[in-house]
Amino acid sequence: MHILITGGAGFIGSHVVRLLVQKYPQYHIFNLDALTYAGNLHNLSDIADAPNYTFLKGDITDEAFLATIFEKHQLEAVIHLAAESHVDRSILNPLEFVKTNVLGTVTLLNVAKQAWKGKVFDTAQTRKGLFYHVSTDEVYGSLEHEGFFTEQTPYSPQSPYSASKAASDHFVRAYHNTYHLPIVLSNCSNNYGQNQFPEKLIPLFIQNIRQNKPLPVYGKGENVRDWLYVIDHARAIDTVFHEGVIGETYNIGGFNEWKNLDLVRLLCQIMDKKLGRQAGESEKLITYVTDRAGHDLRYAIDSSKIKEKLGWEPSLQFEEGLEITVEWYLQNQTWLDEVTSGDYQKFYELQYAGR
Ligand code: NAD
Ligand code: DAU
Repeated sequence: MHILITGGAGFIGSHVVRLLVQKYPQYHIFNLDALTYAGNLHNLSDIADAPNYTFLKGDITDEAFLATIFEKHQLEAVIHLAAESHVDRSILNPLEFVKTNVLGTVTLLNVAKQAWKGKVFDTAQTRKGLFYHVSTDEVYGSLEHEGFFTEQTPYSPQSPYSASKAASDHFVRAYHNTYHLPIVLSNCSNNYGQNQFPEKLIPLFIQNIRQNKPLPVYGKGENVRDWLYVIDHARAIDTVFHEGVIGETYNIGGFNEWKNLDLVRLLCQIMDKKLGRQAGESEKLITYVTDRAGHDLRYAIDSSKIKEKLGWEPSLQFEEGLEITVEWYLQNQTWLDEVTSGDYQKFYELQYAGR
């Protein structure tokens, strides 16, 4: 099977690409990515030469380009992760999020629908003809101190990012309902782990602690997020892609809620040990800053459906995953320097010149 994965050079996408390339030698994985600031081919240097892997540079809003690659590579299934993903950037530039997350998704839906028209796929059995849309728990809005998001929770997005993801989810379901395009969706909680761009809380704070820079905690640090190790999310995506019921949605999360301030304190404790600092030293870097506009108070995912129906559950405890993550960033300072300096763009140009 020829599978198109979009956004495969990003944080989660790169873990999904690696998992599928290594686990399924019988598949060919085509990784389509525009290589924005968040996309980095170094994330995949270990599998770049695998015989069942091809990288394609391109933009999901470019309909002609998409039509060409569907035809040329006979693409038979899509796992769609490409997106603008950072809430703070969406507050600064909402239109960029509408372009990629809404227009890009609808463009991809159109091209897949057109390319697969008239083809007889037994999608439920073979997964050929399947459009899998990877989404976020933020589409459900913000919770107070009680309760969980289930697959039945009504959508109530509160930021330009989550509004754009909610719109894309609606379009995916509309294509299923209107044109009978076989789809599955999943909505996941906050991911952490190696290769996350250091604008998101955990990698940004690891980097700042290491450099003795202030840790900008928004508001009072009382917001709650539900954290999942990125490789567990990649495993869940593999499971939903292969076993999810066509037309259905699966919530993915680890029942692992942390108040931001508690998480930051834990991170400081781990970093003190790793860097040989006195206990409590890194915590002194905590600095309270103006809150994020419209900051969602709490996310908490009820992931019992994917556990009960598909047998997926997280493999790592948070403390263990956080240690592994911290260790990875400390061992991969070059990666951090590259993604923050823009040098990886030059790497790309050199490696793919003339292809
Ligand atoms: P990311 O920002 O790290 O990566 C996004 C990737 O998409 C990058 O490689 C980028 O180059 C690519 N991209 C962006 N615009 C593109 C375009 N127009 N055409 C082609 N490629 C483009 O994001 P991430 O954190 O890995 O998130 C991946 C997906 O998972 C997103 O859809 C996001 O909404 C969703 N998600 C993320 C989280 C999380 O905690 N990070 C949680 C739940 C769901
Ligand atoms: O819930 C899933 C979502 O999780 C994904 O869909 C998004 O793509 C992903 O970015 C993430 O969104 P958040 O806004 O929750 O993640 P972020 O790492 O930006 O922030 C986590 C929490 O930490 C949030 O409450 C804001 C706070 N924060 C963040 C930063 C960057 C700070 O207090 N200071 C910071 O500097």
